[in-house]
Amino acid sequence: MTTTSIPALDLSRIVGRLRPEVEARWQKLMGANAFVGGAEVEELERAFAGYLGSNGCVAVANGTDALVLALRALGAGPGDEVIVPAFTFVATAAAVSLVGATPVFADVDPATLNLDFGCAEDLVTTDTVGVIGVHLYGCPFDVERAAGLCERHSLWLLEDAAQAQGAAVGGRRVGNFGQLATWSFYPTKNLGAFGDAGAVSGNDDQLLERVRLLANHGAVGRYRHAVVGSNSRMDALQAAVLNCRLPLLEADNDRRRAIAAGYRRSLAGVAGLRLLEVPPGATSVFHQYTVLTERRDQLQTFLAERGIGTAVHYPEALHLQPAFADLEVTELPVATAAGPMSLCLPMYAELTDAEAATVAGAVREFFS
Ligand SMILES: Cc1ncc(COP(=O)(O)O)c(C=O)c1O
Repeated sequence: MTTTSIPALDLSRIVGRLRPEVEARWQKLMGANAFVGGAEVEELERAFAGYLGSNGCVAVANGTDALVLALRALGAGPGDEVIVPAFTFVATAAAVSLVGATPVFADVDPATLNLDFGCAEDLVTTDTVGVIGVHLYGCPFDVERAAGLCERHSLWLLEDAAQAQGAAVGGRRVGNFGQLATWSFYPTKNLGAFGDAGAVSGNDDQLLERVRLLANHGAVGRYRHAVVGSNSRMDALQAAVLNCRLPLLEADNDRRRAIAAGYRRSLAGVAGLRLLEVPPGATSVFHQYTVLTERRDQLQTFLAERGIGTAVHYPEALHLQPAFADLEVTELPVATAAGPMSLCLPMYAELTDAEAATVAGAVREFFS
């Protein structure tokens, strides 16, 4: 039909940009046989904590482990309830189940699809120990309301910042608003490795040391184990990629914001299409640019026929998933509706202005 080809995400473009420096670092690592932990991992922990403006960072194997380790460090376990948004990647809630606690699903705010803290407050019980807020699609959740809720009920706040490297509120980077924050460096993320990787960051040194202990077999010396831990260390090859990529993150996030601004200029006011909002004071890093429409499947097909790739994150809210069928759930109308209506347009720093204009033009044409 057309020769246009704009993938939803084109990792080869970032791989091309990073390849020379990554290859040089990887050669060095292979020469030194240094594959787990070591200087690259230490450099990343220092650099990423510095970038966030946080006291510390523990590099781990992936973002799911980061959540599990953070929850364990916070003491969550059987009998505890943890409030989570119903519209997020499965790992946010699965991590709660994996530590033996119970995820309690709250609805999301229609303007952002981030946690609705009014709904969350209604779900607090005497068993509630904490809240996991997710900075979904790179847009910060309402950190002020989160703090108020947690203070009123003596709960901890864990930031699932997997999608939000560099996002900020009032100029302060996300990752500094809860007791701990967790990160995924999965290859598609704004700060992505060439494989699985993740981190836990924060400002409480004791909690971070606890995470470090739990991520390394609970080891306090060679073959001496203070607690039962797991193996969730970051490998050096991934840390090397992240050390190459971190210096590019700010400019890449600026580029994403410019693309998002262009999409908004083109698509605001299109009848039948709804755009998500970035709350005042918040700085999004547009991990995704998500639009909502009742005609989602038709729009996706229409764009595919024109060579434009899109993605659905996520087709179904978590409270509807078989994995959580045994949980009691209240009505969650916004999260339920978001699944069938949401569509993510191409969004990556290497997307050209011409490509973004083609995408926006095709979306407009669909609704005209
Ligand atoms: C919001 C959120 N939390 C957690 C994770 C889990 O991270 P990982 O895939 O690195 O385990 C992801 C990954 O996509 C995510 O998007």
